[in-house]
Order: sequence, then structure tokens, then C-alpha cells
Amino acid sequence: MNRQHVLNCSFSSWYSNFVERTIESEVIKLPQSFVNYLLEDGIYLPLSKAELAEQNIHRELSSKRPSFPDLQAKVEKVINQLGGAVFPKLNWSAPRDASWIVCGNSLKCNTFNDIILLLKSSNFISHDLTKPFELCNEAEQGGQVQYELVLRRWIEIPPSMEFRVFVANQDVIAISQRDCQSFFPCVPPLEDDITFEIINFHDRYIAGTFKERHYAVDVFRKDKAEFLILDFNPFNEVTDSLLFTWNELYRMRDNDEECQFRCIREEAGVQPSPYLAYSMPSDFLDLSTGADANKLVDFLKMEVQRQDDCCSSDDDAR
Ligand SMILES: Nc1ncnc2c1ncn2[C@@H]1O[C@H](COP(=O)(O)OP(=O)(O)OP(=O)(O)O)[C@@H](O)[C@H]1O
Ligand SMILES: [Mg+2]
Repeated sequence: MNRQHVLNCSFSSWYSNFVERTIESEVIKLPQSFVNYLLEDGIYLPLSKAELAEQNIHRELSSKRPSFPDLQAKVEKVINQLGGAVFPKLNWSAPRDASWIVCGNSLKCNTFNDIILLLKSSNFISHDLTKPFELCNEAEQGGQVQYELVLRRWIEIPPSMEFRVFVANQDVIAISQRDCQSFFPCVPPLEDDITFEIINFHDRYIAGTFKERHYAVDVFRKDKAEFLILDFNPFNEVTDSLLFTWNELYRMRDNDEECQFRCIREEAGVQPSPYLAYSMPSDFLDLSTGADANKLVDFLKMEVQRQDDCCSSDDDAR
């Protein structure tokens, strides 16, 4: 894999070409100071605007908590603009492994702090920040990346209607149900329809417009023959092959085989959660071994602060 392949799958590389076929989103460039804050150990939230003002009054109070008032203002403006609830991700990944940390176990964010808490707790986000070119050859691993926060309008997506589409030489070669942990009785009877519709959608709107010839594209079937593009991913092992294996996919690509559709066809076919190994951030693993009790203190302080923020925004709303 070369570096350009990874870069072409980053959100801002493809969004403008597919704006009509995907979810409305905004991209905010991240300052290096914020990237450094995300990379720091421990979980503590930045100072809010009000706290910053207070601290300026009481200069003697020093805090290790940073503050990003400009970024916060931009994020709050975008949240408003996108209807009050957003789905956050960085250039490639969403903090899916951290959703357990927030109320409601979802990536639906209403505030700047909701977003920070998810980004700070996620190993998937750390991976974007530290090893985005992991499978590229050595010479292509270094180099600067402009990190971006992507905020997407929140929409409810029924997991039964999400599919990962594997494309080789600009042809759809395989389609997998995206959520491999569930059996959806409505899907198997639609197999032929969905395959036909996805191939049509891909050939009409994606082939030739996406900058690569091999890729995996995630789609949401909104309605009969109506799709939204959710994401593009590299055509190799950095991407989860779901109900296929990469060996099968490479073979299908090399032999020019006909497109295959796979879904779970009975309750017994359900796979274990792919996030089992990720659901605990490494900070918390440190805690469980007693390696760093200060992290727990930081976390509890942050949770109290978050609850205070929630209460004061409830008060404001009254
Ligand atoms: N705007 C949105 N509103 C609500 N849910 C969303 C939105 N965008 C994506 N999702 C949900 O979040 C899931 C993960 O999103 P996305 O594919 O962008 O993350 P990712 O980190 O790139 O995942 P992967 O590593 O598998 O490629 C999607 O499968 C979809 O169920
Ligand atoms: Mg992705």
C-alpha cells in the first residue's frame, strides 16, 4: 500500500466529490496544540470559556488544563449549523471503541466536551494520530499530516441497512452486511435486490469519481435503491473484511470473480463483537493494574466537571 492510497481515503479527500451522496458534514482543521493534547496521557477536559475567564481573574490559580476557545467556538457553531447533534471522527476513524464511556453508549454528540471525551478515550483515534500509514513501506511512514475534526450531521442509521462494498479495478466484487454481530431477518430475502441496487449505485456515482481503483466503500440503504455513502476505506488489511477474509477478497480480485453478497442468515451465525479487544482504553487498563491512580482521579474530576456543565446548561435552558 502506498501513502497516497491512505490519503485518498481520508475524509476531506473524498467528501467534496460526493457531497450530494453522503451525509452533510463540516471539517475543522486541528491546531497542533490540540493534537498534542489528544496524544497526552490521562483524561482531562480543556477549560471552558467561562472557566478561562475566571482563571484570568484569579491568576494565582494555576491549572494544567489547556484551553482551546477558538476551536470550541468553531465546534459549537458547526454543531448548531448541523442541527444540534453530530457524529465526530478524525481524518480516517471515528472513536467507535470509546462509545461506552458516554451516556447512551453512542457517538451522538451535542457539546464540545462530548466530542473531547470520546476522542481522548479512543484507541482508534490514537491510531489515526500515531500510525496512519502503518501498512505502508518504511519510507512512506513519516511526514506531516494536517489533522482534521470531521463533524457529520447525526442521522439514525438502522444497522440492518448498512453494507461494506469491496471494489477492485472499479468493479464491485463483494458486499458484506456491516454489523456482523446481528442477524437481521429482513436482509436475506432482499439479497438479490440489494446486490443489484448497490452495483448500480456504485457504477453510476462512485466508479471513476473516487480517486482509487481498489477500495471498500460503506453505504447505507436509506430506501429502496436509495443509498448514502458513509465512508471509504483502503482495500487491504487495515480495513475490516467483515464476513469475508482478505485472502478470499484478493482471490476474487485476481480471478475476476462475480460479485458475492454475504449476510448472516440465522441467529447461530452471529459473530463475537469485533471491539471486545478495544472496549477498554489503555489508560483504564493502566488503572486496573494499579499502574497510575492519578488517572482515576483525573477521570473522576472530569466526570464531575461534565455533570456540572450539564447542570449549568440545563439551568441556562430554563
Ligand atoms: N452521521 C452519522 N450519524 C449517525 N451514525 C453515523 C453517522 N456516520 C456514521 N455513523 C455510524 O457509525 C459507524 C462508523 O462510522 P465510520 O465508518 O465513519 O467510522 P470508521 O471509524 O471509519 O469505521 P471503520 O474503521 O470501520 O471504517 C457507521 O457504520 C454508522 O453506523
Ligand atoms: Mg472508515
